[in-house]
Amino acid sequence: MRIESPRLLAALPELGVEYRPGTSLAELTSLGIGGTTDLLRVGQYQHLPALLRMLQEGGIEHRFLGGGTNVLIGDGELGWVALQLAPRGSAADAQIEGASVWVDASADLGRTVTYCARHNLGGLEGLIGVPGSVGGALRMNAGAYGTEIGPHVREVEVYRAARKANETVRGADISFEYRHTSFASGDIMLRARLELPERPYEEIVAGIRVCNEKRRASQPLNQKSAGCIFKNPPGGSAGRMIDGLGLKGLRRGDAMVSDRHANFFINAGHATCADMLALIAEVRSRVRAAHGCELEEEVIVWNA
Ligand code: EPU
Repeated sequence: MRIESPRLLAALPELGVEYRPGTSLAELTSLGIGGTTDLLRVGQYQHLPALLRMLQEGGIEHRFLGGGTNVLIGDGELGWVALQLAPRGSAADAQIEGASVWVDASADLGRTVTYCARHNLGGLEGLIGVPGSVGGALRMNAGAYGTEIGPHVREVEVYRAARKANETVRGADISFEYRHTSFASGDIMLRARLELPERPYEEIVAGIRVCNEKRRASQPLNQKSAGCIFKNPPGGSAGRMIDGLGLKGLRRGDAMVSDRHANFFINAGHATCADMLALIAEVRSRVRAAHGCELEEEVIVWNA
C-alpha cells in the first residue's frame, strides 16, 4: 500500500518516523517471503499513539512487524502499511538495574541474553538461539529448552490498542501461556523489565553453549525459515509426527519441509507465500488423516 495523504507524509518527520516507500518485506523476514508496501520505522515511542491515530483517520490499515522471524506475509502489493520500531543501537537498547534489565522491544533477543550474561544475570540461556526481537519474544512468550521469557517479566511498556495509548503493565497482570499471551492483537510491545537470577558468568555461558549445541544438532539454522511452523499439540510433538509420516523433503514450489527438523519449513529458493500455505495445508491434512489431530500454526500468517 502506498501512503498518498500529503498531510500524513508531511507529519512523519515531526513524529520521528523514517519513511521507506515500496519496501520488499521479503528482505525483512527470516523466511525471505513477503510482498511490497510502505514501511514506517518509529524512532520515538511516545509518538506512536499519534502516528496510529493519523493512520486510522486516513483509513490506512497497518500491521506491526517486529523482528520478522515468526511471520508469513502474503505476496505482491500488500493492502496495509508495515510499522517497525527502529532499534536504538546495541549501546542504548538495554540497561541493567540491580537484578533486572530494562530492554527495548526492538533489541535482538540473542544479544540481550549475552548482554545479561556479561552482567551476571542468567535464566535466559535456553532462549539464546531463538531468532527475533525481545518484543516478539514477549508477545508470543518465546520458549526453548525449558526456558520461557514470561516468568521473568516484571513490567512491560506497551501501546494498548484498546486505549489508543502507551501504558506500563505489571508482569503479574499478563498471562503467559505456551506461545500465547493475554496481549491483544493490536498491542505493540515497547520496552520491558526482566528480573533475572544472579549467577557467575562462566556458569551462564556454559548453559548457553549446551543450548547452542543442541540447536545446531537438530535445527536447520543456516536456511531461511520461521522456526517451527506448527505449535506442538498438547502432550505431542508436531516435528515427530510430521517426520513419522515420511514428509521431510516434501515440497510445494520452493517451500520445503526441512530434512533436518520436520516442523521447520524452509524457503529453498524463491518460495512464495502461496507455496508455503500449500505446504502447510498438505502437511496439516496428512497429520489429520493419520493422527486425527489438527495442527495449529505457530507462525503468524498475514495473507489477507
Ligand atoms: N523429532 C523427530 N523428527 C524431527 C524433529 C523432532 O523425531 O524432524 C523428535 C525429536 O527427536 C524429539 C521430539 O521430536 O524427540 C521433539 O523435538 P525437539 O526437541 O526438536 O523439540 P520440538 O518440540 O520439535 C520445541 C520448540 C522449538 C524449540 C525446541 C527446543 C515448539 C513448536 N517448538 O521443538 O521452538 O527450539 O523445542 O526447546 O514449541 C519455535 O518455537 O519456532 C521453535 C523452533
